[in-house]
Amino acid sequence: MNYADIISSLNLEQKCALLSGETVFTTRALPGKGIPAITLSDGPNGVRKQAGAADHLGLNPSVPATCFPTSATVANSWDPALGQAVGRAMGEEAAAQGVSVLLGPGLNIKRSPLCGRNFEYFSEDPYLAGKMAAAYVRGIQENGISACPKHFAANSQELRRMASDSILDERTLREIYLTGFEMVVKEAKPKTIMSAYNLVNGTYANENAHLLQDILRKDWGFEGAVVTDWGGSNDHALGVKNGSTLEMPCPGDDSIRELVKAVETGKITEADVDARLEELLELVFTTKAAVDAAPSKFDAAAHHALARQAAAQSIVLLKNQDSLLPLTKGETVAVIGDFAKTPRYQGAGSSAVNSIQVDSFLDCLAESGLNSVGYAQGFDRQGKADQALQDEAVLLAKNAKVVLLCMGLDEIKESEGIDRADMQLAQNQLDLLAAVAAVNPNVVVLLSAGSSLESQWIKDCKALVYGCLGGQAGAGALVEVLTGAQNPSGKLAETWACRYADTPARENFGGQGRTVEYRESLYVGYRYYDTAGVPTAFPFGYGLSYTSFAYSDLQADAQGVTLTVTNTGSCAGAEVVQLYVAKPDAKIFRPAKELKGFAKVELAAGESKTITIPLDDKAFRYWNVKTDRWEVEGGSYQLLVGASSADIRLTAVVTVEGTNAPDPYAGLAMPHYMTGEVAQVPDAEYEALLGRPLPEGKVRIDRNMTLGEMGHGRSPLGWIAAAVLGALLNRSIKKGKPDLNILFQYNMPLRALAKMTNGAISMGMVDGIVMELKGFWIIGILRVIWEALKNVVLNNRMEERLKNS
Ligand code: BGC
Repeated sequence: MNYADIISSLNLEQKCALLSGETVFTTRALPGKGIPAITLSDGPNGVRKQAGAADHLGLNPSVPATCFPTSATVANSWDPALGQAVGRAMGEEAAAQGVSVLLGPGLNIKRSPLCGRNFEYFSEDPYLAGKMAAAYVRGIQENGISACPKHFAANSQELRRMASDSILDERTLREIYLTGFEMVVKEAKPKTIMSAYNLVNGTYANENAHLLQDILRKDWGFEGAVVTDWGGSNDHALGVKNGSTLEMPCPGDDSIRELVKAVETGKITEADVDARLEELLELVFTTKAAVDAAPSKFDAAAHHALARQAAAQSIVLLKNQDSLLPLTKGETVAVIGDFAKTPRYQGAGSSAVNSIQVDSFLDCLAESGLNSVGYAQGFDRQGKADQALQDEAVLLAKNAKVVLLCMGLDEIKESEGIDRADMQLAQNQLDLLAAVAAVNPNVVVLLSAGSSLESQWIKDCKALVYGCLGGQAGAGALVEVLTGAQNPSGKLAETWACRYADTPARENFGGQGRTVEYRESLYVGYRYYDTAGVPTAFPFGYGLSYTSFAYSDLQADAQGVTLTVTNTGSCAGAEVVQLYVAKPDAKIFRPAKELKGFAKVELAAGESKTITIPLDDKAFRYWNVKTDRWEVEGGSYQLLVGASSADIRLTAVVTVEGTNAPDPYAGLAMPHYMTGEVAQVPDAEYEALLGRPLPEGKVRIDRNMTLGEMGHGRSPLGWIAAAVLGALLNRSIKKGKPDLNILFQYNMPLRALAKMTNGAISMGMVDGIVMELKGFWIIGILRVIWEALKNVVLNNRMEERLKNS
């Protein structure tokens, strides 16, 4: 549709007003101009539409919706069709609730196992993340509403999440952190995309011309609207100029004035504003029509069943000694662990869904045909040692043939707003496991955790069933796997390192300064472990089944592979066949192997199927920083077909014509990047990779100092505020329930005060606070007061004008 007529009927102030939200989750309407408002809601694993007081952290209750397994879970299914079905159901629920834009899926790369939001993301691998996310987007958008893949880009940690600067070389950016987004944009055409909070190489993602213009719009052909993360806009005018469409949540009139002034002073042009407006109007009108046309009801029971199916197909069986599983009907079982009664089935933060119904493991077990001898809580959920609980559980464990031990991470361990402190399960759970195993060797651990863990304790159980965070119906799925009603077919979308100390980004993840150096470059996850030869607990792509599969008859060329997969066991099952590409004789450094295709195939016992896994334009390419484009190194490549990254069953060699580009690293010494031993890359080598000197990372007293850092300022008020915030944060962590408000505020930069208070605080007032923190105590406070008065007067006048337009 052409919106020229509408646009030409608006004055500059009205145009600018439309480019930011009016409330936390709605855009601004101009009824006099025929422009309606639309609603945006989280999120990635179910709709979180707040009917009453809205906040962006999931603090206030939202309208009940189906809580599907989180993305980290469904990624383990390696089944895009399943992802699309989940997306479709979420899209239906969103439209039924009047939501035009569903804020998800999240597809940031799991750079470190400690990122607090890994449960919301798909994988450490861009190809798998891209395929799954594209499927979600297609599903969500089937009825005409918009998905909003996020957070674009290089957003890999929660510490200082709104102000940290991700420093990475262009090749790493393109190959690892952008490829998934590229696939989503090209394959699924999302109507919106959410820019990330962080900076990328010195410029906020939301005003980064390289990301938003050169790459997203020009290279990939994105025609939709870019939505800021909530409070993620730094300089709205620069955002608009560089391709950011809608500033959220509700920055208030000060932001509108800033935009008007930017046009009037020539910082940006009115044509920039019009271009963004065109994108916004297309979004508003098309998704509003879709919502209006959609049914206002959905089949909650069918969605619950789908949530259960998604959880079941995503469960990963990590150990099954002596084929303890599946259990036979009537087997006596003792159920132990707090998570059996109160499931941990989703993460905390903006993704948290007010679930329509939540199944518990205990309830589902009752219908399983297994013979339960009882339940014991076993441990304190928040990690406090409790001998009485442990003793009671050990006693119970003696009375059954098999112990079903429900362990996992508690709520504070994985949350938006805070990174994990370690990769450990709570010590009291591990003590319980050891004590139970000492009296009954048949221990099955059922694990609820949204990201990888150190698992030295695995010796104490015979079977390990990893349910990840299975959503509202996840408990029933676990029971299905125990009884064999469901043959597990999930495979890990994230490597499980033996120890955190083995992970590649350990030296550079979550630093305290402004910058975060991605020194490990391309060597994320299995790309690192495989290349550097570091052993893992469970490799990427790993997962067991109750049956076995044989691979044969590989035929390969540069377009893909064809092979036969046979179910050689005695029950039906599904196998995830993975296709990796390797070039052992590469001149340009690259990981030992990279995933470039996969297929999930279902087979009855004894059945064989011939499958084809195509290769696409991403199979052989690498980003050349000299020619500034994708190139292909010519020569022979290995195509490795396997059941995991460490279990390659068939290999073929194909010859690929190269593009004869110059070696971008010629003359540079890069021994660590050549061998993949990147855990400690020296400054000089990293600078050579970056192609520039390392940026300074010291925290500055400016609009982007976080509230938690105010102690570094020169104002006693700032010291007190930071100390109080720090104390509140520690108290909430000790309580074991994440206080998302405090977490958010701690990492929030000062400028976000002006972006998230619906106009109550202006940027001028923030500048007064900055003066105060710089030590100009009196002038700072006076400026805050003066700006506050000015803000009230100007806001009132503007609201009056907008109301009458
Ligand atoms: C999160 C986004 C979310 C938004 C709205 C932000 O804090 O980073 O993922 O969509 O809030 O709730």
